[in-house]
Amino acid sequence: AALGGGEGPLSGRRFVVTAGPTHEPLDPVRFIGNRSSGRMGFAVAAALAEAGAEVDLVAGPVHLATPHGVRRHDVGTAREMHRAVMACIDGADGFVGVAAVADYRPASEAGDKIKKSAESMAVELVPNPDILADVAARNDRPAVVVGFAAETRDLENAARGKLEAKKLDLVAANRVGKDLGFDSEDNALEVFSAGRHWALSPKAKTALARELVAIIAERMLERES
Ligand code: CTP
Ligand code: CA
Repeated sequence: AALGGGEGPLSGRRFVVTAGPTHEPLDPVRFIGNRSSGRMGFAVAAALAEAGAEVDLVAGPVHLATPHGVRRHDVGTAREMHRAVMACIDGADGFVGVAAVADYRPASEAGDKIKKSAESMAVELVPNPDILADVAARNDRPAVVVGFAAETRDLENAARGKLEAKKLDLVAANRVGKDLGFDSEDNALEVFSAGRHWALSPKAKTALARELVAIIAERMLERES
């Protein structure tokens, strides 16, 4: 099918999805970044397209093939990701923030490679824009705004905190840690809305993404009834 021409429960809807890490340069050869393969975000984009939606996927630096029927925009830094999302968010019906955006970036980027000289080195960091919060705060915000929360502890409280603070419709939370969540094919998710909770048991990220998209589609229909 052509881009966005699919049939399914999300036919005629457009979604913007972020995926992968962002890389915040320190100098021409080094960056501060986040452990994220991008697999979960790409799986969500693929599942949305399968459900008939038109999908704009804003991807940080990852080594993944573009899912079938998805329009991909490659970015490097959080600020580039913010700009790319804002360029295509107008008129979107849904936003799913799966990217592991770097919360901070180096205050300045050295023009030349930083040389090893001193015994220790300090890097000043400044906050990056919060893409998800900015999308949710728009006057013409998409009907359904979904965030992800990767947590090492206190999953439900942290997830519900984000749901409220960023004014989200849904938050999908997963446990991360040394051997969990990141480079694996499998994942488990707990999805929260203001009044409900879904526990999605561990399975392949592609299958998990389809279950999440079913919840998103249901939510989209509720909003319209
Ligand atoms: N997010 C974003 N832009 C940022 C930071 C986060 O869009 N600058 C999005 C992520 O894509 C995810 C959600 O916000 O959907 C939650 O990110 P998370 O890092 O868990 O939350 P933070 O609010 O950054 O809080 P903390 O890192 O302190 O847990
Ligand atoms: Ca964060």
